[in-house]
Amino acid sequence: MDSIIVKGNGPLSGQIPIAGAKNTCLKLMCASILSEEPLTLTNVPRLSDVKTLSALLESLGIEVGRLNDGRTLALSASNLTSSLAHYDMVRKLRASFNVLGPLIGRTGEAIVSLPGGCAIGARAVDFHLAGLEKMGAKVELKDGYVHASGDLVGTEVEFPFPSVGATENIMCAAVLAKGTTVIRNAAREPDTQALADCLIAMGADIEGAGTETMVIRGVDGLHGTTHRVITDRIELGTYMTAPGIAGGEIECIGGRRDLLEAFCVKMEEAGLEITETEKGLKVRHPGGRLKAVDVTTAPYPGFPTDLQAQFMAMMCFAEGTSTLEETIFENRFMHAPELIRMGANVEVSGGTAKVTGVEGLKGAPVMATDLRASVSLILAGMAAEGETQVNRVYHLDRGYEQLEEKLSALGATVKRVEGS
Ligand code: UD1
Repeated sequence: MDSIIVKGNGPLSGQIPIAGAKNTCLKLMCASILSEEPLTLTNVPRLSDVKTLSALLESLGIEVGRLNDGRTLALSASNLTSSLAHYDMVRKLRASFNVLGPLIGRTGEAIVSLPGGCAIGARAVDFHLAGLEKMGAKVELKDGYVHASGDLVGTEVEFPFPSVGATENIMCAAVLAKGTTVIRNAAREPDTQALADCLIAMGADIEGAGTETMVIRGVDGLHGTTHRVITDRIELGTYMTAPGIAGGEIECIGGRRDLLEAFCVKMEEAGLEITETEKGLKVRHPGGRLKAVDVTTAPYPGFPTDLQAQFMAMMCFAEGTSTLEETIFENRFMHAPELIRMGANVEVSGGTAKVTGVEGLKGAPVMATDLRASVSLILAGMAAEGETQVNRVYHLDRGYEQLEEKLSALGATVKRVEGS
């Protein structure tokens, strides 16, 4: 298994391109099921998650054409041959559960493996299933699979929590349903808004995306379109913490502050300077030590849970004690014990971590447990004394395109070592 070796190499400088958003792209790919005509996606990130979902879509009969070195995907669902999303595929990528809404919406039938738990929490899918049942689907769980069938009819679906995946699944199911669906307490994430924009461009009738209430009036069919995947705000936020940890000044090309306002406010409270430029966002460490700040993760527009690990890595070096509260996933501090192995002072109690900044960390062999935890260890290693070896880095390839190349271009020493 590959590992990544990171060495502290002083302050960073230079430009870093931000790719298209993984989470948006995956849901757009699922949405291609809804139309007989091709959906062409541009600014596609080159990630293993995109390959995994492409394979699943191909198993349903969708033609996936890769153009422009994989940056453009042409997805044609003119000839769907299967409604079965197999466990072997779904277990590798939870987001593939989002074929459920499009499949039942288009064909009236879907058999999709339950995704099972994952490292950061149980991640139930009860809201997805209750929403479909409310729309008139017959939903049964058999042998680890969801069997959903029936002609969907618009209704009111209210989520107990603004789940991103459930909002997207129900939105996709509703676009071809009979009548009007109202989603209350909908997720407002930019990814969800981008999915609605794409569906609207395909002929869907959706109002209120990006607000708590979405109104979707069913239409008879969708047509094809070409859609550009938005900037990955989590990749952007990840690289924005890099100068917060290693010092220096970087420019994130394609970065947009409006995608990450709550995060930017906390970065500035910590002492970083953020400037909007013609090409993106500049982040500058003013020198000295950053200030400890408290963070509570929340659904959009709050502080993203997907940036909590990276922010913790930054707080490990700050002056004072910061309290990081995780409210979205129940088990999302697995990076903490690894950071502690590097000399960090972190105490975790339930959903809260107290991080008291130290003068410096020491490199150590550490284990990556999930995508965002992995990158937080690499970031921490960039300012640690000596060498940090991050093992099990396949997680990183799911969500960070050319991470070593991008960080190396800023002056960091980050190398991949191929394992057996
Ligand atoms: C998506 C993102 C993930 C991000 C998360 C929160 C993708 C591929 N992944 O995940 O990167 O961290 O949003 O911003 O887009 N829940 C239930 N029942 C349900 C659905 C969710 O209890 O039916 C709970 C989950 O267990 C979790 C919380 O709701 O505690 C939020 O989950 P959700 O917003 O659905 O996250 P995902 O869509 O899985």
